[in-house]
Amino acid sequence: MRPPRSRLGRALATGVLCAATALGTLATGAAPAQAADQPLRDLADAKGIHIGNALAGSKLTNNARYREIAATEFNSVTAENAMKWGVLEPNRGSYNWGEADQLVDFAEANGQQVRGHTLIWHSQNPGWLDNGDFSAAEMRQLMRNHIETTVGRYEGRIAVWDVVNEMFNDDGSFRRTIWYDALGPDYIAEALTLAHEADPTAKLYLNDYSVEAVNAKSTAMYNLARDLKARGVPLHGIGLQSHLILGQVPSTMQANIQRFADLGLDVDITELDVRIQMPASADELRRQADDYRAVFDACLAVSRCQGVTVWGVGDNDSWVPDVFEGYGAPLMYDGNYQAKPAYDAVAEALGGTTDPGDPGDPGDPPGDGCVADYAVANEWNSGFTGNVTIRCTGSSLSGWTATWDFPAGQRISHAWNASCTQSGARVTCTNVSWNGTVPAGGSTTFGFNATTSGSNPAPASITLS
Ligand code: XIL
Repeated sequence: MRPPRSRLGRALATGVLCAATALGTLATGAAPAQAADQPLRDLADAKGIHIGNALAGSKLTNNARYREIAATEFNSVTAENAMKWGVLEPNRGSYNWGEADQLVDFAEANGQQVRGHTLIWHSQNPGWLDNGDFSAAEMRQLMRNHIETTVGRYEGRIAVWDVVNEMFNDDGSFRRTIWYDALGPDYIAEALTLAHEADPTAKLYLNDYSVEAVNAKSTAMYNLARDLKARGVPLHGIGLQSHLILGQVPSTMQANIQRFADLGLDVDITELDVRIQMPASADELRRQADDYRAVFDACLAVSRCQGVTVWGVGDNDSWVPDVFEGYGAPLMYDGNYQAKPAYDAVAEALGGTTDPGDPGDPGDPPGDGCVADYAVANEWNSGFTGNVTIRCTGSSLSGWTATWDFPAGQRISHAWNASCTQSGARVTCTNVSWNGTVPAGGSTTFGFNATTSGSNPAPASITLS
């Protein structure tokens, strides 16, 4: 069962001076986004696709909420970093399998498939490899050893491997890497062939970014894939990383997936995130939900699209703020692991239902995902001090107005940290210059003194806009 959505009526303890005062905690808009009725993985199973996440072993160990979300909402696991060469073999000849094993064990314990990421790449390699100045023959031998060792270790346990990662420049030319420079473009075919020998049951992928649209880079990928298929090289799928910017889901994404499918290849969305220029407003989080929905819709529309992996659990787990200056909030859960509007959009794209009024529903007013708590802080014969705290979880506010009706003739005499006006029973308070932005996961409080004539009941609700 879902928890009740409304926070109306929650009673708070009162201080000595206001013993008889009901401290209303008042809901406005909607409560934070809730988990959908059915976990995303069950919805994805019913649609016949995977929904995955990129995980870190230390967070699985140390954070129960992260672990719970990873286990219950996803049916596929990618190692965010644990299977990269630099992590596996920081010193030549001595492998660290700890975190990679942990992730594979976790996935198996939870009935999840594993995407192996990644064997041959230009980034996150050990220094000894990057700087070794090896001959072509030595590079070929190093590639063979690494693929045989790594794929062989998990034979039958890792369903899909990103064999080569990020092989193209944006103009569609081959990226110059230690592999390209030593072996020429055929390093890609060689790596695929070695991976197939090491685990003939694994599905082998090429993976890149900015190949989501039909463009020069994805066309280069398309031509390479077609040539490899024609040569009989073992290639089974293409990974579209999909590190997207808010509002920029390519209109040609579905057509692009389809053209790879028409070559006889599977396609996965392998690293989805949708970054927002910070701070993210409530409206931007709703538009982000639309972007998530569009990506899932594009995948679901093509039968060979195997699923979608999201690149991290909560917004604070994401690589985005470290790499794209000023951007953040790219994932389906916020920094407190509360589901964001994007979560509900994905649930809906997968055929699930979410409660009407969930943040992210089309047409929701700004402020959805934030609540205002009303409290009487102090009370005397003819008046009281009140506080209102605006708290945002699933989304943020930028510029706010809190409105309520006093039920028993209370009148505001003075307010601080907000500008308040009163007309009859109706009170309208707006932010001052420095507290207009309430980020997801943040709060702000304003206060007032008011006069009473007799009783001092709390308002029935506060509306945020
Ligand atoms: C990123 C990780 O998320 C970060 O933790 C790490 O510091 C750098 O790499 N494309 C890929 C991923 O294929 O492996 C990258 O992951 C993100 C871009």
